[in-house]
Amino acid sequence: MIISCNKCHTRYKVKPELLKKNILKVRCSRCQHVFIIETDKKSPIDLDKNDIVSHAQIITICNQKGGVAKTSTCINLGAALSEQNKKVLLVDFDVLANLTLSLGYEKDVSFYQLVQAGQKNIDSVIKQYSKNLWLLPSNSDMNLFPKYYMQKNGFEFLLKNQLKKISENYDYILIDTPPSMEFFTLNALMAADSVIIPTQCEYFSMNGVKEVGKIINILEDKYKIKLPYHILISLFNPKSTAAKVILTQLNKQFSGKILKTIVEGGQ
Ligand SMILES: Nc1ncnc2c1ncn2[C@@H]1O[C@H](COP(=O)(O)OP(=O)(O)OP(=O)(O)O)[C@@H](O)[C@H]1O
Ligand SMILES: [Mg+2]
Repeated sequence: MIISCNKCHTRYKVKPELLKKNILKVRCSRCQHVFIIETDKKSPIDLDKNDIVSHAQIITICNQKGGVAKTSTCINLGAALSEQNKKVLLVDFDVLANLTLSLGYEKDVSFYQLVQAGQKNIDSVIKQYSKNLWLLPSNSDMNLFPKYYMQKNGFEFLLKNQLKKISENYDYILIDTPPSMEFFTLNALMAADSVIIPTQCEYFSMNGVKEVGKIINILEDKYKIKLPYHILISLFNPKSTAAKVILTQLNKQFSGKILKTIVEGGQ
């Protein structure tokens, strides 16, 4: 049986013989939190690090504003993590397939083929780019998703349900999304443990961040979930006075949510 620590959510395989008791007191080897499942033992049983069932941290990169470096963030963050020996899956969840094309792949298969053809194993469409980096590609067939699925109950969990099957294979899953807040981004948000919102330091971008924050709050209320988000300043021009002013405003408005790393670029 698999149990999860109710503080840090690390999951463990528990030996079946331990579960024969009524209340089981266990201590998480990762965060040391003691919690109860079912046994009559008085002192906590130490959980073994070797029994940890790891699952990927799923990070969605989104902003309904276009051209703010969502795809670039996804690729570069993925590459950096993979160089640190983390196993990373990049998910291209944008029909334009910029992420797929950037990595040099044809738009031959996508998440659509996987779901429509009822392929049993999600691994059949995943491409291995390098030792620690994989891609779930996109293609224009993904355009059909909203048409066929938008009216179905639970359409927003389509990606989450598929990623659940493979999450144990990776340390991180990074999802790239289109510049809109509809079918694809909603699915990507529902699949995520956390969100990165890249933004330029421009007036309209600031407004875009506010809108994404609002949508995340609505989802948290509606689905009773926690979806922490952080803002990544991208395409920052340190010579621009306007950009510096907007950065100050963003820091005031989203105190504690702006990532320390600022990515320079653009005009
Ligand atoms: N740090 C940077 N320096 C210079 N150019 C950059 C930088 N980051 C991204 N770019 C360029 O900015 C453009 C937009 O980046 P990107 O495609 O990642 O944005 P996006 O938010 O994914 O766009 P879309 O909303 O269209 O999907 C691209 O041409 C990209 O190469
Ligand atoms: Mg993009």
